[in-house]
Amino acid sequence: MTETLESLFEPIRLRIAAAESDDDLRRIERETLDKGGAVAALLAGIPTLPPTERPLTGKRANELKGAIQAGLAEAKERLALRAVERERLGEGFDATLPGARPTRGGLHPLVAVTRELEDLFTSMGYVVLDGPEIESDENNFQLLNIPPDHPARDAQDTFRCDADGKFVLRTHTSPGQVRALKERVVPAIRAGTFAPPFRAIVPGKVFRQETTDASHEHTFHQMEGLVVGKDISVGHLIGAMKTLLRGVFGREIEVRLRPGYFPFVEPGFELDARCPFCKEGCSVCKRSTWIELLPCGLVHPNVLRNCGVDPEVWSGFAFGLGLSRLVMLRYGIDDVRLLLSGDLRFLEQF
Ligand code: DAH
Repeated sequence: MTETLESLFEPIRLRIAAAESDDDLRRIERETLDKGGAVAALLAGIPTLPPTERPLTGKRANELKGAIQAGLAEAKERLALRAVERERLGEGFDATLPGARPTRGGLHPLVAVTRELEDLFTSMGYVVLDGPEIESDENNFQLLNIPPDHPARDAQDTFRCDADGKFVLRTHTSPGQVRALKERVVPAIRAGTFAPPFRAIVPGKVFRQETTDASHEHTFHQMEGLVVGKDISVGHLIGAMKTLLRGVFGREIEVRLRPGYFPFVEPGFELDARCPFCKEGCSVCKRSTWIELLPCGLVHPNVLRNCGVDPEVWSGFAFGLGLSRLVMLRYGIDDVRLLLSGDLRFLEQF
């Protein structure tokens, strides 16, 4: 073994120095370090050498490998610097070539509709509130007049967060009413600064342990509404809902109220809207010309009382808009599961 590291590396060093591109470097790397390359050749010769020369040759092979790797890394840096320098000097830049078109994202339809409704409601004097997705059983049920053994709990298959059932994934945005009353209305009344009517919306994600299908999803969106003032009546409620529908559909929409039961409102209603898509009945309105759109009602005195508001003095109305449903109606989406699927083929249509 007479060859020095220098004599082995020199021809490779020259090749690296002459490299003009990353491709050149990759080729040199392959031809020297991979199978059949200079390093491998050295190693392959070891068994034929006299035992005394073997260790030195092994050491040489390792040194050669290190030298090649270091040389390649240095050359790579040199090429990158040169590219930057060239660009700075305007070399190799063709101003007539079309640029790379950046891919732009768009708003998710749920976000678009939520923002639109937030604009609409803030223009009517509502504040937009937020609440946690993990909610106490107390806020999600008890203070809303749904005590522990109330049958209304069965309708809301609840994801529980702890063994004692103190916390749940909120099953609706109605705890937003409780928080608004406790955190906004009561302190203002106490401080003597309450300026009725208080109006708030609470858009957000809600969760139910459901078997999913085209019209059921375990995670969906609602928007709660709450108005508190003096002598609030069903008339106020209907007026607000008609304004909402005019904003959403861009024209006057006929509505009707049917009685509906929800423990936190009295009286409670289901508000139906005349189907905006047909006159004689279609698949969206299931041939009835009416679409069940939003449950609502006058806030139950127990809820006001539970939250510290005197129902003898104050009254209010509330509604629970199914945001996911509204988005589906608006865009003609026939499967709720698409909304949160993250499927780009779906999302790119908006
Ligand atoms: N929280 C109810 C649900 O998700 C919907 C609801 C009904 C909300 C009546 C309201 C209301 O504010 O007044 O099933």
